[in-house]
Amino acid sequence: MNSGDIRKKFLDFFEKRVHSVVPSASLVPEGDPSVLFTTAGMQQFKPYYLGKKDAMVDFGTLNTVSIQKCVRTSDIDEVGDESHLTFFEMLGNFSFGGYFKEEAIKYGYEFITQEMKLSVDYVSVFGGEGDLPADTESERIWKSIEPNIKIKRAGRADNFWGPTGDEGPCGPTTEIYVRGLEIWNIVFNEHYQSKDKTLTKLPTPGVDTGMGLERLVMVLQKKENIFETDLFSPLDVNNLPSIMSETVRRIMLDHGRAITFLVSDGVKPSNVDRGYILRRLMRRMMAHFHKSARGPFKASDVTDLDFVDIENLLERVVDNYRHFYPELDKEKVLKIFREENSKFKTAINRGLRELKKLNTLDAKAAFKLFESYGLTFEIIKDFGGEKAVSLSRDDFDAEFKKHQEISRAGAEQKFKGGLAGHSETEIKYHTTTHLLHQALHDIFGSHVVQKGSNITPERLRFDFSHPQKMTDEEKRKVEEIVNQKIRESLPVQSVVLPRDEAEKTGAHHFFGEKYGDKVSIYFIGRDLASAYSKEFCGGPHVKNTSELGVFKIIKEEAVAAGVRRIKATLSGVQ
Ligand code: ALA
Repeated sequence: MNSGDIRKKFLDFFEKRVHSVVPSASLVPEGDPSVLFTTAGMQQFKPYYLGKKDAMVDFGTLNTVSIQKCVRTSDIDEVGDESHLTFFEMLGNFSFGGYFKEEAIKYGYEFITQEMKLSVDYVSVFGGEGDLPADTESERIWKSIEPNIKIKRAGRADNFWGPTGDEGPCGPTTEIYVRGLEIWNIVFNEHYQSKDKTLTKLPTPGVDTGMGLERLVMVLQKKENIFETDLFSPLDVNNLPSIMSETVRRIMLDHGRAITFLVSDGVKPSNVDRGYILRRLMRRMMAHFHKSARGPFKASDVTDLDFVDIENLLERVVDNYRHFYPELDKEKVLKIFREENSKFKTAINRGLRELKKLNTLDAKAAFKLFESYGLTFEIIKDFGGEKAVSLSRDDFDAEFKKHQEISRAGAEQKFKGGLAGHSETEIKYHTTTHLLHQALHDIFGSHVVQKGSNITPERLRFDFSHPQKMTDEEKRKVEEIVNQKIRESLPVQSVVLPRDEAEKTGAHHFFGEKYGDKVSIYFIGRDLASAYSKEFCGGPHVKNTSELGVFKIIKEEAVAAGVRRIKATLSGVQ
């Protein structure tokens, strides 16, 4: 049975049993900031279990069925073995008060044994733990179907599922095993878990099931591992170099699918959140590919990173899956991949030089290499050789997390302590803010004082003291100055000076602010004396103003008496 037939049989089976077929939701979940990616079929249905949305209104039934694209990254380092994936598809049927345990279990059994003609090895049920009782009802139902069925009881770790993110529906599960593999997970969403981990009973219990398509296809096609199934074989039509190890080939196939789907759902590589995961997948793929096809990186070969084979693979993913996922966009995927490829070259060249200078490589130094040059953990380990032996993924991740928290906390404040962990776009806006600040001084004089600043990936916002509305002519002049400085390709540099000396340079800073004995000044220009802009600042900034694109003021308004606010964008940056 090919995978296309399996998809169809699954959807048809449930459609005949009064389920509405719902298309896969985006990999970027809507309205649920607590999760990065869609990791299960139920993600898009969370509000229906909670009664916040009405399935009857939206689907015309209380039951749905879907084949959901999912990304889970907790096992990213395991990809390359027989079974781990970051991207996979999940077959699932759901009910929001329509049916419960009896039907859910019977449907599962019937589909596996009659439609798929597989025999069930055994099933597992929730055996109870703490205040939660054993699921004797499911046991009874299983026995009523097959009196001699083998039933294993297990605790919360194995037979209790959810929630996704930090709160949501969850409950006991029963799992179906075929040929020793867990094939189907049937969840009875009876509880709601809050952020503080307390459980409350849901008013209407629901059903959420998940069956990994790759695994089911592997069992049905009698393959040793998922990569031999027809979900992967068309992706690898002898284009991947034959010297490539099996592990690397699998990494290519898995990451190739994940990248294609993520980019098509609008994710762009960056240094934070989803973008960071995508960047990791892309760079990990390029690094493994390069190493496998050409041996370890040497400073001399990084200028010539040719990834045509990867591009071909991404194209084949689109060709192979477009039929089920019309959102897949070949041009967009190739464009974003090529851009990241060229950033990766620059990163490796610069990062390698820095790495060579280091004597030891702890998590802090490694994170700095990531932050400044975009070298991922895997690449640092690879290049670092002896120096990086004691560097662990956990320590690196801890450092990363620390910086992301700092940067989030700082995002609402004015820039004094830095923007560590922010995306490249945000860093560009940060440097542009310095140019804007100085341009306002040029036009209006020294009464201009910074009152606030805020940056998002979409725009910069800058508040400053000035008594009246800016005229169109003044706005145009400010734009002209900033764009002129961008065109001049000025380097952005920093020095650390004792506070009194720093003040003497005339660099902008906040009066009354407590600075340390030594302060860092960022200046834009060839040297400190002749620099166009100077500010007390912790960075980070771009290396050169030529990286900035075209500056435009989109709004100028009052925020308080004598305080004006400018919102501005850069075009030509992503
Ligand atoms: N949501 C359940 C899972 O992901 C079915 O296993």
